[in-house]
Amino acid sequence: MTATNRRRVLLAKPRGYCAGVDRAVVTVEKALEQYGAPIYVRKQIVHNTHVVRTLEERGVIFVEETSEVPEGATVVFSAHGVSPQVHKEAAERGLKTIDAACPLVTKVHKEAQRFAAEDLDIILIGHTGHEEVEGTSGHAPEHIQVVDGPEEVADIKVRDPNRVAWLSQTTLSVDETNATVQALRERFPNLIDPPSDDICYATSNRQAAVKAIAPQCDLFVVVGSANSSNSVRLVEVARDAGARASYLVDNATFMKEEWLEGVSTVGVSSGASVPEILVRELLDRLAEFGFTDVEEVETEREKLTFALPKELRSRRAKGD
Ligand code: F3S
Repeated sequence: MTATNRRRVLLAKPRGYCAGVDRAVVTVEKALEQYGAPIYVRKQIVHNTHVVRTLEERGVIFVEETSEVPEGATVVFSAHGVSPQVHKEAAERGLKTIDAACPLVTKVHKEAQRFAAEDLDIILIGHTGHEEVEGTSGHAPEHIQVVDGPEEVADIKVRDPNRVAWLSQTTLSVDETNATVQALRERFPNLIDPPSDDICYATSNRQAAVKAIAPQCDLFVVVGSANSSNSVRLVEVARDAGARASYLVDNATFMKEEWLEGVSTVGVSSGASVPEILVRELLDRLAEFGFTDVEEVETEREKLTFALPKELRSRRAKGD
């Protein structure tokens, strides 16, 4: 057997779009159809450069804050969710709003509100400054403090160590979050858990799929944008699970030929905000280097879908 015909690709499944991203992108497309361009979107609708560029070409204007949206215009809030303060600002400016927050992020908002109503101190495990963390924190600003790993647990200050609850960002590493929760429980033995996991099904399924194949891979390439938390986590998971090297690429053009030197098996996956076309382009590029043998390894079948936001549902129901 020659070196060339030993070259293969193991393709992780599930990968790519989750139900929340699919819903958010379709929400913006439907808003364009129903209201016409321009449609404003606060922040990137999902953290993917290709998706954002494609929507811009169709008449979407991305802004950082609602203050940049002209009065009376329509603004869509991104999949990462927003705080009540953002809704208030939009209402004050007379904006029409469509909230494309993923229902699994909204679930965490409700948990935060419930823990705050019980006057608990809430530890939110997540990345400071990430839009989802800012949105969730805004639902209980007096009660939430953010920690970004077990090493930060010692610095937490609470009012009563017996009345502490934890929540998490939806797109974290499952293993690292478990380590942080363990550190929290050592410090606060009566720590109160959320009613169900906050790390969403899509994040954990994509990590499990990568973990299953990474030990067989000399190289692992994850398609995703650098600001996509769940994509970055997949690169780390691949490395921690035994891939000799792992990289994040925004698209196939970023894959470097030298990464393939001495490589027999390449693992491929993509983050939850990544359209499948970008994975296909990466596979085409790998094929140019002899990696034509592609085996898809499926570890979980996903069937979840979410209904569109109510603003679009009610217009459709009225036949608009
Ligand atoms: Fe929602 Fe998880 Fe996707 S929180 S947007 S299903 S990555």
